[in-house]
Amino acid sequence: MTITADAPLTGHDEYLAAIATARGASAAYYSGEQSPLDDASYDRLLRSIADYEQAHPQDTAPDSPTGKVAGGAAPAGDIAHTTRMLSLDNAFTPEELVEWGASLERRLGQPPVGWYAVEAKLDGAAVAARYRDGRLVQLITRGDSRYGEDVSHVIGTITGLPEQLADNATVEVRGEVLLTAEQFEAANVIRVEHGDKEFSNPRNGTSGTLRAKDRAYRLPMTFWAYGAVELDGESFPPTGASHTEVLKQVAAWGVQTTAQTPMGLRLCATLGEVQQQVDQIAAMRDALPFGIDGVVVKANDAGDQAAAGAGSRFPHWAIAFKLPAVERQTKLLGVEWNVGRTGVLAPRAVLEPVEVDGSVVTYATLHNPADILRRELRLGDTVIVYKAGDIIPRIEAPLVELRTGDEQAIAFPEACPNCGGEIDKSQERWRCAQGAACRLPAAILYAAGRDQLDIDGLGPEYVSALVSSGDVADVADLFTLDHAQLAAASGSTKRADRLSEQIEQAKRQPLHRVFCALGVLGTGRTMSRRIAAHFGTMDAIRAADAAALTQVDGIGPEKAPIIASQVAELGPVIDKLTAAGVNMSEPRESDEGAGAGPLAGKTVVVTGGMTGALEAFKRHDMEELIRRAGGEPSGSVSKKTSLVVAGEKAGSKKAKAESLGIEVLTPEVFAELVADYLG
Ligand code: IVH
Repeated sequence: MTITADAPLTGHDEYLAAIATARGASAAYYSGEQSPLDDASYDRLLRSIADYEQAHPQDTAPDSPTGKVAGGAAPAGDIAHTTRMLSLDNAFTPEELVEWGASLERRLGQPPVGWYAVEAKLDGAAVAARYRDGRLVQLITRGDSRYGEDVSHVIGTITGLPEQLADNATVEVRGEVLLTAEQFEAANVIRVEHGDKEFSNPRNGTSGTLRAKDRAYRLPMTFWAYGAVELDGESFPPTGASHTEVLKQVAAWGVQTTAQTPMGLRLCATLGEVQQQVDQIAAMRDALPFGIDGVVVKANDAGDQAAAGAGSRFPHWAIAFKLPAVERQTKLLGVEWNVGRTGVLAPRAVLEPVEVDGSVVTYATLHNPADILRRELRLGDTVIVYKAGDIIPRIEAPLVELRTGDEQAIAFPEACPNCGGEIDKSQERWRCAQGAACRLPAAILYAAGRDQLDIDGLGPEYVSALVSSGDVADVADLFTLDHAQLAAASGSTKRADRLSEQIEQAKRQPLHRVFCALGVLGTGRTMSRRIAAHFGTMDAIRAADAAALTQVDGIGPEKAPIIASQVAELGPVIDKLTAAGVNMSEPRESDEGAGAGPLAGKTVVVTGGMTGALEAFKRHDMEELIRRAGGEPSGSVSKKTSLVVAGEKAGSKKAKAESLGIEVLTPEVFAELVADYLG
C-alpha cells in the first residue's frame, strides 16, 4: 500500500502501512542514506499517525514512531546519557505557535515570568560534549535520547568546540554540530579526491562524518551550544539560572553558542514579538552561511521550565517553529550541457518546477558526467532537490523505488555543444578540446557589447576573423590591435579607422564596465556595478578574498570563492588591460554628480508588474531609472533594502519587505517620487 503524506489515514491497514513508511524513512535518514520522504512529508506523515492514534488509542501499535525520539530509528549506541536528550515538538503555523503558548501559560498559570528566548534551530546533529576538568574528553550523539554513540574521533576538528575550556569546569555542553556551506563544499572536494561519493547535503554529511571512525581524512565541522547539564555530580546550571545565563557561562568558557549565530538569541515578552522574531530569522535564512530548519522558542526562566515539565519525547517549555523544507521531491525532465569560459562542459538538470524554501527551482547542478553515472540518474526519475543557504540547488540520488519503467538513459554529448568540435574526456570534467578558445568569439563579443566596453561596430564577423587570425586570444588583445589588423578583419581602412576610435574610447570606460567585460561567472551588469562601487579600483577587487567579497550585496558565501578564484585566474589578462591603458577605477560619486536624487543612498527592489506611468518599464528600465534617481537597484529583499516597489501580483518579496518593516510603494507613488527622472 502506498501512503501519501497528505491524506488522513482512514483505516487500520493504512495506519500500519504509514508506520512502516515512516520507520523506513527514519531509518534511512539516520543511516545517512537517501530517505524516500522529504522532511516536510515525514513530519506530515507522523502527524497523521498521531491523529489516528488519538482517535483510536486502543489500536496504537507498539512499534509506532510517535512515542519515540527520532521515530525510534536513530542508532542508540552504548553510552548512557546522564539526563535524557529530548527532542522538540513542532509548530508549522503561527496558529500552532499561539496554541503552544496558550498551553504553556495554562501549565504555568500565567505568562512565562522570564519571557520567551528565541533562537535558530540549526540543521545538523545533536551532540553532548563532556568536559572534565576543562578538557573535552568525550563526544556523544543523541542516539535514542537515553543512549548515544561515542563519536570522540571528531574532537579537534570542530570550530566552536574547543578541546580546552577557559577554566577547569566539569560539565556536559549540548548543542548542534553541522557543516557550514563552505565546509560542505570543501568536504566534497576532499571526498572526491579520496575517491569517495560526494555528500548530497550538509546534514547527511554531518551524520556521515560523525559515524565514519576510520576515514583517511578529517572534515572540519562547526558547533553551537544550546544548553548544558551537570556531569559527575558537579552541579550545573546553578539553581535558578535562566537559559540565557547558561549560554552566557558556556560562551565564557569559550564554547560557541546559539546566541553567537547571526540571528542571536532574543528575549520576547509576548507571542506576537516571538512571531516577529521568527519572521526575521526566516527572512535571514537565504543569506546564512549554514542551514537552519526552524526557530526554537523556549521559556527562558529556570522556574518556568521546571513548572512546565516534560513529556516522554519533548519538554513542554520549548517548541520548534519549522520553516519550509529545503528538500523537495520533483522529476528530472532533462539535462542541458553548457560550455564554461574555460571550455568545461557543465551538465545542468532541468526539473519539473518545484518550490523549495520559498523560491521555484527549475535547474540544479550535476557537476560532471561521472557524477551522473555514479548517481545512476535517468530522465523521468523522481529526485530530491536540496537547497540551503547560498548553495546552488543540487540533486540527491534518484528514488529508485518510484521508477515506473518509462525512465530513459541520459544522453551524453558526442561533440562540444558550443562549437561542435571534439571533446576531451580524459578527466572527470569533460572539456571542449579547444579549451578556452571554444568560447572565445562569444566572450569577445560579450566584452565588446553595449553594456560592457561598448565597442560599436565590432560585430560577430569581425570578431570571428580576429579570433581565427590569432590576433585576439583574450579581451585585452583588442586594445593592442593595430590599424592593419583591424583593416584585415573588417575589410576596409575606413572601418578600421572607426573601430580604432571606438577602441580608444573604450579605454576610458568606468571600472564596472571593464570588470563586466571580463565575464566573471555570476557577475553580470548589476553585480559588476556593485563590486566596482564597493571596491573602487581593480587592484582592490584583486586584493579581496572571499570574505571581503561577501560584503557586497548579493554575494553569498557560495558565490564569493568562485568570483575570487576567477579574478585570480584572470590576473594576466587584467595586467595586459592595465598595460594597454584601460581605466581601472570607478568614478567617485562626486565625479558623476551621484549621491543626489530622491533615491540617494537607497537600495531599491522592484517586484511584480509595473502599472501607470511605469507600465512600459521592463526590469532593465527600472534599474536604470533607480540609478538615475541616485539609488542602487537590487534583486532581493534583505535588511539592507531601503525601499520596495511592489506592482501587480507582487509575491514573496513584498511579504518579506513587510515582515522586515521596509517601506513598500505602489508603482504610481514611486513614479511621483522619481517624476523628474522618468524622461
Ligand atoms: S533545544 C530539550 N535548541 O533540534 C530541548 N535544539 O528537533 C533540547 N536543535 O534534538 C533541544 N537547534 O538537535 C534546541 N537552538 C536549538 C536547536 C536545537 C537545533 C535540534 C536538536 C534537537 C532537535 C529537535
